[in-house]
Amino acid sequence: MIEELEKIKKSALKELNSVKNLDDLEKWRVNFLGRKSFLANFPKQFKNLSPEEKVRIGSFYNQIKTELETLYQNKKEELSQKIEVLFDFDHPGSKFSFPSLPLIQTNLKRIIDIFRDLGFYVIDSNYLVSEYENFDSLNMPPYHPARDMWDTIWLKKPNKYLLRTHTSAFQVPFLLKFKPPVRGIVPGKVFRFEATDARHDFEFYQIEGISVSENSNFSHLRFIFKEFFKRYFEKNLEIRFRPSYFPFTEPSVEVDLSCLLCQGKGCLVCKFSGWLEVAGAGMIHPFVLKQAKIDPNKFQGYAFGTGLERLIMLKYEINDIRLLHSADLRTNEI
Ligand code: PHE
Repeated sequence: MIEELEKIKKSALKELNSVKNLDDLEKWRVNFLGRKSFLANFPKQFKNLSPEEKVRIGSFYNQIKTELETLYQNKKEELSQKIEVLFDFDHPGSKFSFPSLPLIQTNLKRIIDIFRDLGFYVIDSNYLVSEYENFDSLNMPPYHPARDMWDTIWLKKPNKYLLRTHTSAFQVPFLLKFKPPVRGIVPGKVFRFEATDARHDFEFYQIEGISVSENSNFSHLRFIFKEFFKRYFEKNLEIRFRPSYFPFTEPSVEVDLSCLLCQGKGCLVCKFSGWLEVAGAGMIHPFVLKQAKIDPNKFQGYAFGTGLERLIMLKYEINDIRLLHSADLRTNEI
């Protein structure tokens, strides 16, 4: 019986030596120390032994069993530590597949950089503005029909405050702060009381441009637009001014860009006109200059407003504005 025990011990030690992971160790444990193992069932034979033999063989049996159990515990600890050692902290990680910032932020930054290079200040502004800033200062008294176009979310308190419908609300505050000659852009979010669909959302970004000096004029505006679109879309594009109406500019124009997708030939995106409407603009109305305490006989200037999401949609060929405002990270993989 002693030999049997020694044989078992020998093969247990041998096999333990080739155990390389926790799974193998568990198999080893089941095999040599488990319920059905030779060792677990060994004491059954004790009943046929004399008392002296029982003591001799029994103590040898206990010794071997304890020894194997200790070896098992030690090996288990050793292998568990190995897992940590196996983790290589210097191994290069897998690459993130999307840019860390949303398209709105990266494109806004790009646009700000372009205008800064063109000599424009970049001004931060409030979302919450007074009725005067959003309407009256822009030549839209309470009865003015153009107000309907921009009716929005009004606050109950303080009275006569609202979420701005356009960044033009910052024209007068901007011109009160910076005396001409001056050029600046006011980028930021605007809000409209409006049903959403693929091309409209109730909140979106605008970029307002303002330039006032003794001779700021349409040809300057045309140059700025041409340069801006060339740098932003990385393409040489045609610009077209179309007569339009805004209460705060006179004359007013809509600015069209030759279609990016069909190069003016006509496609679904430009509705076969070859042109895309990208901005509203005009020469700042003397009424607005007066609100900013600027003498309209001495100074003149242009203003424009363009929508950020529209530019992004054109650049990346995105057909639903709501994708840009959603939390779907796939939008950023474009
Ligand atoms: N504020 C106008 C709009 O939201 C755009 C605009 C800005 C027009 C500046 C003229 C001058 O539609």
